[in-house]
Amino acid sequence: MSSRNLHSTLLVLSLFFSLSIADDRAILSKLSASLTSSPSGWTGTSYCQWTGIKCDSSNRVTSINLASKSLSGTLPAELSQLSQLKTLALQRNSLSGTLPSFANLTTLQELFLDSNNFTSVPRDFLLGLTNLRTLSISDNSNLSPWKIPDYLSESTDLGTFAASNSGIFGTIPDIFDSFQNFQNLRLSYNNLNGVLPKTFWGSGIQNLWLNSQAIGLSGSIDVLSSMPQLSQVWLFANAFTGPVPDLSKCLNLFDLQLRDNHFTGILPPSLTELPKLINISLQNNKLQGQFPEFKSGVNATLGDTNSFCRSSAGPCDPQVNVLLAVAGALSYPISLAEAWTGNDACAKWTFVTCDSRGKSVRTLNFAKQHFSGTISPALSNLTSLQNLLLSDNNLTGSIPESLTTLDQLVALDVSNNNLTGPVPSFAPTVKITANGNSFIGKDVDSEDGNGKKSGSGSDDGVQLSDNVASMERSTWSVTATIVITVLLMFMRVC
Ligand SMILES: *[C@@H]1O[C@H](CO)[C@@H](O)[C@H](O)[C@H]1NC(C)=O
Ligand SMILES: *[C@@H]1O[C@H](CO)[C@@H](O)[C@H](O)[C@H]1NC(C)=O
Ligand SMILES: *[C@@H]1O[C@H](CO)[C@@H](O)[C@H](O)[C@H]1NC(C)=O
Ligand SMILES: *[C@@H]1O[C@H](CO)[C@@H](O)[C@H](O)[C@H]1NC(C)=O
Ligand SMILES: *[C@@H]1O[C@H](CO)[C@@H](O)[C@H](O)[C@H]1NC(C)=O
Ligand SMILES: *[C@@H]1O[C@H](CO)[C@@H](O)[C@H](O)[C@H]1NC(C)=O
Repeated sequence: MSSRNLHSTLLVLSLFFSLSIADDRAILSKLSASLTSSPSGWTGTSYCQWTGIKCDSSNRVTSINLASKSLSGTLPAELSQLSQLKTLALQRNSLSGTLPSFANLTTLQELFLDSNNFTSVPRDFLLGLTNLRTLSISDNSNLSPWKIPDYLSESTDLGTFAASNSGIFGTIPDIFDSFQNFQNLRLSYNNLNGVLPKTFWGSGIQNLWLNSQAIGLSGSIDVLSSMPQLSQVWLFANAFTGPVPDLSKCLNLFDLQLRDNHFTGILPPSLTELPKLINISLQNNKLQGQFPEFKSGVNATLGDTNSFCRSSAGPCDPQVNVLLAVAGALSYPISLAEAWTGNDACAKWTFVTCDSRGKSVRTLNFAKQHFSGTISPALSNLTSLQNLLLSDNNLTGSIPESLTTLDQLVALDVSNNNLTGPVPSFAPTVKITANGNSFIGKDVDSEDGNGKKSGSGSDDGVQLSDNVASMERSTWSVTATIVITVLLMFMRVC
């Protein structure tokens, strides 16, 4: 390289640096001017000495910290041109107006904007922030509605996304498999709807605050059982349904707030054994089964609007347990959870009719209830059952073999469902109605038949038919061996 070329290169380089420095100074001046009054301590020519400013060795601004400085006014769009900025902390002021876009500011790691009065978020607000670790924008209650952008998946180092009470609507995007080290998700007091994202599965989330949504998040919370790092889970005041999953892998969970939802079903026994649990709320749901007994020292709020079989500890009546297993195979429909309260199934439980002594269930009639799920093999424990009427639902799986042991059974109606597999052989006295099940009697892959998805343990039906199948297989192979041996002997003779 000639000295002339070198000279001009150096000139361009130094020009570039002085330009950038001039830019950083100019941008801070813009910021100062757009605030209602200049931050105190922002005087003198060396802006790197101004209060709250940090620079690198080339006098490029790397950090602005003006938290709790009683600032009002707006932020200039040029802020994102501070191309070495790592931290911007403006929380707890009275800043307002549209937020600037920080798009492509790849140095940015921390952005604290919480407790202000901003009014809108630009579409490309956080686009391309490949080094972002923390975004905190909670308590900006005048923000016009915005959604959590899908492009946030590019911020693979993101560890904290805190945006409670900040005008968010829509669903939580299913992007949590993009983050290596995600820990804190705070989205309380917004207008989120939809279900928990599947990619929560296996994520490292420790603090999950999704409580108090305007209409509410819905669906099941099963994914929590695969989030072993959870320590604090606030899901109260939503529209979640289904049972509380087994959380026995969540060894650090100390605070679980599930109140004010539509949870149903039996609590997993492991819930009362969680080693770190100190705070749990379950009131205002429709939880069923045995009343849970937490260890002393646990602050448990259970309320009196759940559907536990008793209002204090103690086992449920055996017949109640069977009916709960039946409900479990249907994923604990809310209609059953609301109607089946108390510890006596013969005390006018909906769909249930008992004998004249009011002791044993004679008829169970679920016709036309829009139930989906399977037929529980535990029904065979209702030994006085005469009529089992399940027509016009959306039941899958097969008719459990165990039902053939019900020796009082008179009528079994499963018409107009989506059952598969063979009809077991009942006594000739049983009237079976099974029309309107296009796959019944046909050999459908056992993957989705045979009640394998049923919530209850015993599965006699499958066992029996598997046994029959394997007996058939072994008979067949014995026959084949004999035939081959005979053939071989015959060939040798010839
Ligand atoms: C950010 O980068 C993307 C992709 O390179 C580009 O399309 C977009 O215009 C950039 N936005 C800004 C504000 O620089
Ligand atoms: C926030 O801004 C709105 C106008 O957009 C104003 O009415 C309200 O008083 C402000 N609140 C605070 C706490 O500054
Ligand atoms: C327990 O729950 C209550 C009510 O939500 C809350 O105020 C309190 O901070 C919680 N305590 C702990 C230790 O988590
Ligand atoms: C049904 O009876 C079997 C055999 O007695 C028992 O193992 C099972 O726990 C019972 N199921 C229910 C839900 O009561
Ligand atoms: C039946 O259940 C299947 C699978 O759960 C569902 O896709 C379908 O919409 C249901 N049909 C009715 C009529 O409820
Ligand atoms: C019935 O089940 C079959 C196979 O499992 C499924 O393809 C079909 O969509 C189901 N029909 C209804 C109405 O749920």
